[in-house]
Amino acid sequence: MKVTSMPSTSNAIPSNAMPPPAASTGRSSRIAPHSHIKGLGLNAEGFAMADSAGFVGQESAREACGVVVDLIKSRKFSGRALLLAGAPGTGKTALALAVAHELGSKVPFCPMVGSEVYSVEVKKTEVLAEAFRRAIGLRIKETKEVYEGEVTELTPAEAENPLSGYGKTVSHVIVGLKTVKGTKQLRLDPTIYEAILKEKIVVGDVVYVEANTGAVKRVGRSDAYASSYDLESETYVPLPKGEVHKKKELVQDVTLGDLDAANARPQGGQDIMSVMGGLVKTGRTEITEKLRREVERVVKGYVDQGVAEVVPGVVFIDEVHMLDIECFTYLNALLESPMAPTVILATNRGKALVRGTTDVYSPHGIPLDLLDRCLIVKTESYAREQVAKVVQLRATVEGLALGEGVLDRLAQEGEKGSLRYALQLLTPASILATLAGRKEINVEDIGEMNELFLDAKTSAGMIGDKGGFNGGSA
Ligand SMILES: Nc1ncnc2c1ncn2[C@@H]1O[C@H](COP(=O)(O)OP(=O)(O)O)[C@@H](O)[C@H]1O
Ligand SMILES: [Mg+2]
Repeated sequence: MKVTSMPSTSNAIPSNAMPPPAASTGRSSRIAPHSHIKGLGLNAEGFAMADSAGFVGQESAREACGVVVDLIKSRKFSGRALLLAGAPGTGKTALALAVAHELGSKVPFCPMVGSEVYSVEVKKTEVLAEAFRRAIGLRIKETKEVYEGEVTELTPAEAENPLSGYGKTVSHVIVGLKTVKGTKQLRLDPTIYEAILKEKIVVGDVVYVEANTGAVKRVGRSDAYASSYDLESETYVPLPKGEVHKKKELVQDVTLGDLDAANARPQGGQDIMSVMGGLVKTGRTEITEKLRREVERVVKGYVDQGVAEVVPGVVFIDEVHMLDIECFTYLNALLESPMAPTVILATNRGKALVRGTTDVYSPHGIPLDLLDRCLIVKTESYAREQVAKVVQLRATVEGLALGEGVLDRLAQEGEKGSLRYALQLLTPASILATLAGRKEINVEDIGEMNELFLDAKTSAGMIGDKGGFNGGSA
């Protein structure tokens, strides 16, 4: 797959609309540590397929995560917790991200790291509570009168500015909309023109305008303008069917966290968030527990009327041993609240001191009462062949060519040190290869890297008995 820059839209810019964001030319996409992971790679029966979706080995953990995905999708897992436990570099974070992939973009997934709760300004428990609220989605269905179609014309009409002698203002804007059935020309208010500019709408986009609020929404770019790239950020949609002016069922996805924030700081406006933000009339600017309950009550009303649907999502807390005892007790309470999402925790600790206490040692650094509520999945260390496969995957993603024997050598390092160490050698070795004018990474490059850098175990081994760094000669 190749990521290419957006096609030039210069022919589609209306007379004086704001220019579209400059299409960056020749920008290469950043490669994140987990960008080779595309999902859990399970078959229809829920069994792990060998080396699929970027995942190598780790079969039982993947299958366990698959069961959790199914439970989340059928909404039977909310208020429960899954704990991924295993050594560093065994794919715990990768598994959680794969779960997010499998759930799709409609199910809220809210990742955080244990240490995120420590803030000077916000209470620890508040950070957790907010993450939980952001992981509960609300799908709101409403039938609205809209004008929908592909934009064929976008002409702002200008008038003299009555307030100052200089400059002009937009008095109205003419928008032409086209559907399969017909076309229509709308004359819209200048405030709607601002919304059009904000959404960066140009000729050729499919949009709809809500008849009674004037809110404008861009659906995507019309199929007719589709390009032949394999992958790009644009979504293409077919030309809308039916008349331009019609009733349309709109589905909006918001989270309880969005609603809390909108109600704490009501702003006024026409889009869905502002309207929903006026649900609870308050002058408050802080999200209090009371506000949350009120939002919940209103939401429940909507659910009872059949207007909205609750979509419980996932909170992922990586490095969960970084939470302290206060957070853990609060987590217990959150898990038992009526609107709780699924919780996935990850840790690489064995028996450890629970943070915030002086004498409570417990498995994974998690107090027993929370541990009791968790299903625990263990991630296994990798064998040499598996390390080799992951290294090969990463090399492909990063666009590096490996010379003969390199894979073997790296797999050996990975088995001796860790998978992460083997992966980390890849990039500096490629720089060495480039410096030497080679396209491929050679075994010598890896050897040289090994002399320059240490893996964690070797480094720890070199620290002598006295705890100093004396090169292992102590
Ligand atoms: N089974 C696997 N298949 C493919 N890549 C893996 C696998 N396990 C780990 N990785 C990759 O190895 C690196 C380290 O894994 P990570 O999930 O960050 O480990 P952990 O969170 O357990 O410390 C990441 O780049 C990850 O994508
Ligand atoms: Mg991790």
